[in-house]
Amino acid sequence: MYVCNCNGIREREVRAAVAAGASRPAEIFKACDAKPQCARCVCDMREYLQEQREALRYAAE
Ligand code: FES
Repeated sequence: MYVCNCNGIREREVRAAVAAGASRPAEIFKACDAKPQCARCVCDMREYLQEQREALRYAAE
């Protein structure tokens, strides 16, 4: 599934970038060697980042 249609960034690439330490959408774009264009995907990227933070918080408890 594509998260960013402008750059052809798939969900697995976003998840890999987040797992590798990306903490902001700009870092996800950088990890994918892309730049934001329409930025419609930024909200979805933030959801992946939030999901990762919650998983880490849960794991730390
Ligand atoms: S959908 Fe990602 S920049 Fe347009």
